[in-house]
Amino acid sequence: MTATNKKIAPMKGILLSGGSGTRLHPMTLASSKQLLPVYDKPMIYYPLSTLILAGIKEIMIITTPEDQPQFQRLLGSGEQFGVQFTYRIQPKPEGIAQAFHIAEDWIDGARCALVLGDNLIFADGLEHMLHDAAQRQHGATVFSYQVKDPERYGVVTFGEDGRALDIVEKPVNPPSSWAVTGLYFYDHRVCDFARKVTPSARGELEITDLNRMYLEEGTLQVDTLGRGCAWLDAGTSDSLMQAGTFVQTIQARQGLLVGSPTEAAYRMGFIGVEQLRAVGQKMSKTPLGQNLLHIASEAELSLKER
Ligand code: DAU
Repeated sequence: MTATNKKIAPMKGILLSGGSGTRLHPMTLASSKQLLPVYDKPMIYYPLSTLILAGIKEIMIITTPEDQPQFQRLLGSGEQFGVQFTYRIQPKPEGIAQAFHIAEDWIDGARCALVLGDNLIFADGLEHMLHDAAQRQHGATVFSYQVKDPERYGVVTFGEDGRALDIVEKPVNPPSSWAVTGLYFYDHRVCDFARKVTPSARGELEITDLNRMYLEEGTLQVDTLGRGCAWLDAGTSDSLMQAGTFVQTIQARQGLLVGSPTEAAYRMGFIGVEQLRAVGQKMSKTPLGQNLLHIASEAELSLKER
């Protein structure tokens, strides 16, 4: 095989769903945070939909040891979404960048995306943004969003030309209001970079330190999510409630689903209309199931009209 026709391995994706969820106690004493409902779906459905919309089919789900069986019960092999799930355990929450140590053999030199299990992104044109990020062969892509409380997040500073100058984790005096979201796309060198990350003052392998390595190399692309976008992390009672209300409002107003991995899988061509209908049928007592059945009927009608 020559260099020009060498096939590039498809990007893989990690859904990081560990952590102790202490900011949601007592709700998370007996259940994983990422399995709590955000309106009509388990929280993990939202970031899972994001990975599917990015065109990613090989997905690793990292959980705590005690929560893994519940995730497996909910999500299975991935067949229902036309994807393939691999499950791994993170024994202790020692940092987001640790995901790349846990997954290194599975990543096996491919490019890899990472999404946090409590991050919900809703944006017009999201599919294009995700597609572009997933197609990049060299460097890393992260997304930033303007927030009122940047001190809770990784924060980016931009130069006058719009290029990212610096990125810092939870700064006491935030240099800007641009927070880094929990969705990251990396090239094939991500595990090499992750091995170089050392524990921070709070004892974690920080994803921000990994991102800074790409930044210092000049290969970190920071895409901004504008006004029409919503990025919510459902990590506190308030943000969980806000995320649920947001999803309920959009779905009731527009009749469109937010964060349905089944719909995303259908739109991406990962499953066919029969499978979409079958999933809808299984949940036909719920508005979600009815909505999937409606999408299936519309699709069948347009197929007949062709
Ligand atoms: O949400 C975006 C933010 O996520 C970024 O802006 C920050 O740069 C990044 O550090 C992270 O900040 P958080 O304070 O939100 O991280 P937290 O510790 O809450 O973890 C986020 C999710 O990742 C949470 O659902 C639990 C999971 N997690 C976290 C750690 C540290 C794990 O599964 N394992 C871990 O070791």
